Amino acid sequence: MIKRGLFITFEGIDGSGKTTQLQLLYKELLLKKAGVIKMREPGSTKAGEKIRSLLADKRLYIAPDAELLLFFSSRVQLIEESIKPGLQKGKIILCDRFHDATVAYQSYGRGLNLDTIKVLENIFILPVRPDRTFLLDCSYETAKRRMTARSDETRIEMMDRVFFERVREGYLAIAHQEPERIAVIDANKGVGEIHEQIRDDFFGWAGIGRNSKLKIKDSRLQTQEGRNSKLKIKDSRLQTQEGRNSKLKIKDSRLQTQEGRNSRFNNKKSR
Ligand SMILES: Nc1ncnc2c1ncn2[C@@H]1O[C@H](COP(=O)(O)OP(=O)(O)O)[C@@H](O)[C@H]1O
Ligand SMILES: [Mg+2]
Repeated sequence: MIKRGLFITFEGIDGSGKTTQLQLLYKELLLKKAGVIKMREPGSTKAGEKIRSLLADKRLYIAPDAELLLFFSSRVQLIEESIKPGLQKGKIILCDRFHDATVAYQSYGRGLNLDTIKVLENIFILPVRPDRTFLLDCSYETAKRRMTARSDETRIEMMDRVFFERVREGYLAIAHQEPERIAVIDANKGVGEIHEQIRDDFFGWAGIGRNSKLKIKDSRLQTQEGRNSKLKIKDSRLQTQEGRNSKLKIKDSRLQTQEGRNSRFNNKKSR
């Protein structure tokens, strides 16, 4: 892949707030006119959504290894059909669960062999390892309270404390092994506070920090909200990022100057 977007995943136990937080970051990026796509796993392709229904069908007996392979099938379909093309177009992809969920649930939770999962991961998944993962970590009590408030009976039934603790422990073990990629977020807090933490982490990590870069971001937002002359600056920057016109070079040099250190948004930069 020559052009490169960003692949961001959200992980955590049911009720930790993944879908809520993904949606908030998605909206924020849309507001900034970033090229952003959201997806969920399993699912988000026609075949993947069928696999998701299969997995959710309680009338079916699915052997644990068969279940594992169904998760992989959906994931590989998503990679080929959506993730790789999206990244090649320089998109920011936000995905609700990805491969870490298989390690946490199928291996730590259900006890499937981790080596088998790693072999499959090496063959089918690794080329699209997430660039950044937000692990929403919360207590059993917090998750259960939220699921009860949502009256999500199906999922509440599945909320066995021992299983939950094993999965949580699995997620934390992965985070411990990959601290560079995985940001552990205290998901016991309120929605707004968690969002601020994720947003600050994301923009800091992606190279839009609190200092001079923040001003760019802020003024861009003012532009969007206030439709003044700053808007033009923003638009041309975006065009530049996507590579369409000659302003791109000018913009890129502006960005490099302002942002200095990296340019992960520069979609021509390979991984
Ligand atoms: N930080 C939070 N505080 C209180 N309630 C929350 C918080 N985050 C999410 N919720 C609520 O808890 C429920 C589960 O959140 P959701 O985002 O669907 O979790 P997940 O996708 O991880 O299962 C939803 O009803 C949601 O509105
Ligand atoms: Mg969800």
